[in-house]
Amino acid sequence: MAAEWWARDDLRYEDGRLTFAGQDVDRLARDHDGPLFLYSADRVRANIARLRTALAASGCPHHLHYAMKCNRFRPLLNLMAEDGAMGIDVCSPDEMDLALTSGFAARDISFTGTSVSNRDLDRLLAQPDLHINCDSLSQIRRIGERTPGRAIGIRVNPGVGVGYGDHARLTYAGERTTKFGIYREQWIEALALAAQFGLTITTIHFHVGCGFLSRQLDAWDKAVGAAASFLTDLPDVRSVNLGGGLGLPHRAGEAPLDLDRWSAIIARHFLGRGLTIATEPGDYLVKDAGLLLLSVVGVERKRDTLFVAVDGGFNIHPEPAHYDLPCEPVACVPRETDPARWQPVSVAGNINEALDLWAEDHLMPPLEEGDRIALVNAGGYGSAMASNHCMRGGFSEILI
Ligand SMILES: Cc1ncc(COP(=O)(O)O)c(C=O)c1O
Repeated sequence: MAAEWWARDDLRYEDGRLTFAGQDVDRLARDHDGPLFLYSADRVRANIARLRTALAASGCPHHLHYAMKCNRFRPLLNLMAEDGAMGIDVCSPDEMDLALTSGFAARDISFTGTSVSNRDLDRLLAQPDLHINCDSLSQIRRIGERTPGRAIGIRVNPGVGVGYGDHARLTYAGERTTKFGIYREQWIEALALAAQFGLTITTIHFHVGCGFLSRQLDAWDKAVGAAASFLTDLPDVRSVNLGGGLGLPHRAGEAPLDLDRWSAIIARHFLGRGLTIATEPGDYLVKDAGLLLLSVVGVERKRDTLFVAVDGGFNIHPEPAHYDLPCEPVACVPRETDPARWQPVSVAGNINEALDLWAEDHLMPPLEEGDRIALVNAGGYGSAMASNHCMRGGFSEILI
């Protein structure tokens, strides 16, 4: 059968059966009842290694963090902690506690959060070694009042953003005013507040959007340049955190992000400036290391549409419905290997909401009740964002 756009050495059809990380996916799924997220440790390690190579190519001292919000399955967090050189990005006090109990020391944890309450701050500030990036003037003031003299980072909003397919909801900075980070217009006030409380600004942080691919690198370059311009007022800054947002292909025809260009942009802005470059991707490290396995519970034509009904809905993996980042459904054991004989189907979840469709007009081999399908690229913003909507929130997760 023709190579699929998502196929690679560790994810492909072998003798007509989908294999992932050397395992037969259908057999693994049959050992579990209900929806199953399946993650590959080797793929996560390969993604980490590829990104580290790109960071090293920039010539800058560097540090890689993982954005926990993307997937907080504890075995994955343990894997990252066992790496020994990884830091972790958290965005809530509960995430901080989970990082601490998953093997990360407080000094390796970086917090960047929004709409942070005093209750949140009291928990965060109880960890003297935790690094906090402030994303509002109010956060700077309240940290200053509670812990004058502390070292802080500032999340800046460079006013230029990027996102997968230039999707507005994935773009965290840009023409549209967003809630994230401190804008240039607020800068003098931010510096004055930090000075008032003796806070030392050691990091500049920015995260300008999610899922960017090579097509968005020119815009990312501009965002980096705009963020770097904040450095001129800051003699104590030792590190620049570029955020996450590195994307991966979600549709046929999309190419992987050009990491050589990404790394060259970093070098052009920061090489030789005595700064450590940090980045905190989520998706890039875990998204393509995960599949979501669902069972077919019915196949039925309604008017002009052939529906394939499956036993899991958008609530257990909300990202495709919220952000137009599709997870392509593929058959675990295709009954027909010649794509010319496949039919367009709509794959429908089990939630009573019209948007609960995994795919529409999507070519698939003939499917029958009891067949398993895999959604590729399901390792990020799936289980971590899942809800119990319709009380159908149950799923299992395994790391192989
Ligand atoms: C501050 C911050 N850092 C990192 C990330 C991770 O983003 P991604 O998973 O797209 O790499 C996010 C995601 O929203 C974020 O808000």
